[in-house]
Amino acid sequence: MLWQSREFDDHEQVCFFSDEATGLRAIIAIHSTTLGPAVGGTRFKEYETDAEAIDDALRLSRAMSYKSALAGLPFGGGKAVVIGAPARLKGRPLLHSFGHYLNRVGPYFATGEDVGMTVEDIDIIREVSPFVGGTSDGAGDPSVHTAAGLVHGLHAVARCRFGKSDLQGLRVAIQGLGAVGWRLAERLHAAGASLVVADVRAERTEAAAKLFGAVAMPPEQIHAADVDIYAPCALGGVITDRHAREIVAGAVAGAANNQLASERAGEILAERGILFAPDYVINAGGVISGLEAASQMPGRARETLLPLDERLTTIHDRLVEIFERSRRERTRPELVAEAIARELIGRAQQLHLQGDPLKAEAETL
Ligand code: NAI
Repeated sequence: MLWQSREFDDHEQVCFFSDEATGLRAIIAIHSTTLGPAVGGTRFKEYETDAEAIDDALRLSRAMSYKSALAGLPFGGGKAVVIGAPARLKGRPLLHSFGHYLNRVGPYFATGEDVGMTVEDIDIIREVSPFVGGTSDGAGDPSVHTAAGLVHGLHAVARCRFGKSDLQGLRVAIQGLGAVGWRLAERLHAAGASLVVADVRAERTEAAAKLFGAVAMPPEQIHAADVDIYAPCALGGVITDRHAREIVAGAVAGAANNQLASERAGEILAERGILFAPDYVINAGGVISGLEAASQMPGRARETLLPLDERLTTIHDRLVEIFERSRRERTRPELVAEAIARELIGRAQQLHLQGDPLKAEAETL
């Protein structure tokens, strides 16, 4: 079942754990540790079938390898999935049991929150395992840094798509005014952009109208707003083939994971001249901010890190590289991003094989 999965991509290690006493059933998928120990969140959710859970763990762990590589981080990619309804199963006994299993995987994998998990849950796992990041006394809420990173990414979009050196006067449609979207709205307003917003929670759009002079739109129409940039910051899979045909903006650049509902949707955007900023490149601010915590885990040599503000600028530089190569090679940005990630991991792998892991690490920074 595992090797036949369409998401299996020569993953280094996949572990299955179960603990009858607490009802724990979990998978830890480690895609690659070539660039460093694998990092990736823990997702706690119900799946229709176990095969679906395995696919999710494999797909998400590979995406984490790409995300870390493109952000220039000395980390590989992994992901944990806990199968079941969080409301029914989640509690200290199950979280501790999961933490004990994390200890067995040890320094090869470190995790944090994802769908179905909270910072409080990570704090509870921390009681028994050091291999977690994003605890309440650690780097804190990653969305602050995700929003800051997004703004760096939007500068790259402004430059490569609109020939602008700042965000002044750009019109941006933000879908979802949650932890990331709201902070993005604050920053864009301060930078002189004008905003169109949508959220299923009317009080959020009303507050944005009052504070930022934003124009509110119904959630089902925001993708077709007459703006320069459409920033999906709510759900994944929002760019369906139909939506890709209806987008008016010249660029799509937002925080939501897995925005393209299909490969075809990406093709349609490219055919229509709409620049797409690959989501796992532009939304890497949260992962980049977790570097301090991850580098202090057991088994890691402490490193001298650049200040976070400087590290976040990687997002701008990487996107410019992707957009320029995309234009040169007439290849869609999401495909270029994947190619660069594979090149970075492959190059480091070669250097490892040649017995020079330090050079391998430096090469990726
Ligand atoms: P959140 O849950 O705080 O905010 C989501 C917002 O979208 C909420 O205000 C919700 O009411 C709204 N929403 C839900 N359905 C909607 C719809 N159909 N139309 C319009 N608005 C809708 O989530 P958060 O943390 O702001 O994340 C946003 C997206 O960015 C998610 O897809 C997440 O996976 C992704 N992301 C978040 C990161 C972070 O640091 N929080 C890091 C990387 C990706």
